Amino acid sequence: MRLAICPGSFDPVTLGHVDIIERASRIFDQVIVVIFTNPQKAPLFTTDERAAMLRECTSHVPNVTVDSSSGLLTDYATAKGAQAIVRGLRVISDFEAEFQMARMNKKLAPALETVFMMTSNEYSFLSSSLVKEVASFGGCVRQLVPDRVADRLKEKFGGKA
Ligand SMILES: Nc1ncnc2c1ncn2[C@@H]1O[C@H](COP(=O)(O)OP(=O)(O)O)[C@@H](O)[C@H]1O
Ligand SMILES: [Mg+2]
Repeated sequence: MRLAICPGSFDPVTLGHVDIIERASRIFDQVIVVIFTNPQKAPLFTTDERAAMLRECTSHVPNVTVDSSSGLLTDYATAKGAQAIVRGLRVISDFEAEFQMARMNKKLAPALETVFMMTSNEYSFLSSSLVKEVASFGGCVRQLVPDRVADRLKEKFGGKA
């Protein structure tokens, strides 16, 4: 069985994430989307909120499950018996950090491969941070995030958005 891990912050999940998850689900038998605690980011949504939104917008994909972890990605992937980590690549600016992380993960777990998927054109500019910034000023983020996520952002920012 081919198992892939899609790690990230997903704060909150965007249609760019959903696109990568759906595409990974067609290549691998099983995909686990894992919310990792990133010590460099102060999240807007709790881990439980992020997991609930991810579950809702991936419920149509039978071989995808959602989990969370505060440990090391390579430890998590190795414990699950995963063959690959799937990461999405947007513009050139993603490359350097992703390259570093992939090299480090290769050192930590040589048997694990990192697979990169190029973003779809319509999502190449899309990030959770930008969505949060726009939503915080009352801008419309529909068509960029699942509808339920747009509703949750509106609730968070007190009726704006
Ligand atoms: N618009 C997008 N198109 C394609 N991939 C994306 C997009 N936004 C995020 N991703 C990918 O989804 C994964 C999780 O992203 P993110 O939630 O920002 O977590 P992280 O904090 O690990 O960067 C990463 O591999 C990222 O490159
Ligand atoms: Mg990111």
